[in-house]
Amino acid sequence: MTQNIYDNPDFFEGYSQLGRSVEGLDGAAEWASIRALLPDLKGKRVADLGCGFGWFCRFAREQGAAQVLGFDVSDNMLARARATSDAAIDYAKADLEVLELPEASFDLVYSSLAFHYIKDLDALLTRVHAALVAGGHLVFSTEHPIYMAPAHPGWTKVRAPRTGWPRAWSSSTGRSAHCSTS
Ligand SMILES: C[S@@+](CC[C@H](N)C(=O)[O-])C[C@H]1O[C@@H](n2cnc3c(N)ncnc32)[C@H](O)[C@@H]1O
Repeated sequence: MTQNIYDNPDFFEGYSQLGRSVEGLDGAAEWASIRALLPDLKGKRVADLGCGFGWFCRFAREQGAAQVLGFDVSDNMLARARATSDAAIDYAKADLEVLELPEASFDLVYSSLAFHYIKDLDALLTRVHAALVAGGHLVFSTEHPIYMAPAHPGWTKVRAPRTGWPRAWSSSTGRSAHCSTS
C-alpha cells in the first residue's frame, strides 16, 4: 500500500518547520541546480508530481505557464497548496503509483523529492513519457539514499535535533558517513 507519511500529524509538524516549507523554493537546497534545468515556461502546460505545498506550481504560473496541475497523495499538503489560489492551478489528490495522465498533454513534467517514494518508478516514468509532448521535458530531483536507507547492524542514524530527520550515520567503532546535498 502507498505510504502517506505527510498526513501523519507529527511528521507534518516537523516538515512544516523545514526551510523549504517556510521559505519556499529559495529554502530548498537543490533549487538553484534544478532551476537551471528548466525550460522557458511561458505558455506551457505543466504537471508537478508530488507538489507538496505548491511552491513550484505557483512559480510556474509566475513564469507564465498557461496551465499547471499539481498532484499529491497527502490531504495535508494539498490543503496548504490550495490555501493560495490561482485559477490556472488545479490541485488533485492522486497516488503517483497509479496516476494516469492524458497522452501528449504536458510540455513539462516536474517532480521534486517525490520519486524516491515510488516503488514502481519504471511504470511511472513510462506514463510520464507518454504524457509529454514531443520535445517536452521531465525535470526532477530525488532524495539521497541516506535519508531513506534502512538501518544496518551497528550503525545508527544521526538525526537533526529539531526535525528528527536523518543527517548522517555513525557506528560504535567511530566510523561515520555523511550526506552532502551541495
Ligand atoms: C519531500 S515532499 C516534496 C514536496 C514538494 N515537491 C517540494 O519539493 O517541496 C514529497 C511529496 O511527495 C508526496 N508523495 C509521496 N508519495 C506520493 C505518492 N505515492 N503519490 C503522490 N504524492 C506522493 C508527499 O505527499 C509530499 O508532498
